[in-house]
Amino acid sequence: MMLRPTQPDDLPELAAFLQANGVACTISTLGWKYPGLTGGSGSPVRSWIAQVEGRIVGHIGVVPAVIRDGRRSASPAPAGWFMDWMVRDDLRARGIGVFLLREAAKHHPVLMTIQGSADTQRVLPQLGWFACDDLSLYKLNLAAGAISVNASLPQRTAAYLAGVLWLHPVTHRPPHGWHLLGSGPSTEAPSWNLLSDAIRRLEATVPDVTARCPHTAEFLTWWLGSHPTRAYRLILATDATGPSGYVIWRWSSRADGRKDARIVDAGAPWDRPDVWRWLLGAVTAECQAGGGLQVGCLAGRRSPLALALRANRYLPRQTLPLWLSPGFGPADAGTHWHATLADSDIDTAAAV
Ligand SMILES: CC(C)(COP(=O)(O)OP(=O)(O)OC[C@H]1O[C@@H](n2cnc3c(N)ncnc32)[C@H](O)[C@@H]1OP(=O)(O)O)[C@@H](O)C(=O)NCCC(=O)NCCS
Repeated sequence: MMLRPTQPDDLPELAAFLQANGVACTISTLGWKYPGLTGGSGSPVRSWIAQVEGRIVGHIGVVPAVIRDGRRSASPAPAGWFMDWMVRDDLRARGIGVFLLREAAKHHPVLMTIQGSADTQRVLPQLGWFACDDLSLYKLNLAAGAISVNASLPQRTAAYLAGVLWLHPVTHRPPHGWHLLGSGPSTEAPSWNLLSDAIRRLEATVPDVTARCPHTAEFLTWWLGSHPTRAYRLILATDATGPSGYVIWRWSSRADGRKDARIVDAGAPWDRPDVWRWLLGAVTAECQAGGGLQVGCLAGRRSPLALALRANRYLPRQTLPLWLSPGFGPADAGTHWHATLADSDIDTAAAV
């Protein structure tokens, strides 16, 4: 078996290999995810393949990130989200997967993934990885139709009553001097170039206790702003000093064609819960006005984002474990987490 960095010439075979194993990718989406391979600019996402007799039999990719353990004094550690980790099924359980993971770990002292497949959840604990359970997927049903058509009569009755009593946007007054850019159907989308100002201002307000993977404007612009589907929408919150908050969200499709909304990233001054509440409320109202049935967002349970979601009637519906490699100890992971990107179908990002 040979293990080596993926080369641009490998993309057609790699796309076919990943597709055969259930990843909804194309050569073009791989070119976006791994721009270093196609000569594109952007973050240097890394990718390695395992070959047997000249054929690709395994792959791992890593999106570079940084991680802060919650102590401001500790500088951000280099880290990476691994993805597209795959071994051909007839060659599994022979060490190829762990070999690929170790190669990725050589370049990224801390590796991470959210939830992971059943195989991931079986293999990672054996390698000393730690699952942090501070993250929850918060959801809000925006219409009674959000409930499955197969639900029982009591469930449908409860959904109907919730629709009458509960399913309407909570209106939070804009904090004094604040307004939104990019919200509402008729407004022009703000430029992604403004995101760096917003992130710079809100980063200065983050307290010591919050463990996070801070996203740079450059990363978000490349990963979401230039996504091939152009599906991600940016809303900025601005006060007199300029943009100081943002939400990035998108629609996603259900199997029956109806649509949900997903908040993929958000930030606001940590010391301004009123701004968080108002910003999340405005995005929620927009999702409802656009005909979304349900909106979801991943957040650390004790983060300002989670408080704002709760204030807008979202409920924690599912704990998603955040897996961390042994380079990031359980003690560090015990601090409060902020929200992270968990956009599992980012390959297709279902444009609606
Ligand atoms: C996850 C996946 C990539 C692992 O690849 P693999 O080649 O089967 O993994 P390995 O052979 O390296 O490891 C398999 C086993 O050896 C163990 N192992 C290997 N090296 C080890 C080491 N140094 N120390 C301890 N255990 C080790 C693993 O923990 C695992 O244990 P198991 O017997 O319970 O399966 C593979 O199962 C796969 O492609 N699954 C489907 C796709 C998927 O789920 N991808 C993850 C998406 S997040």
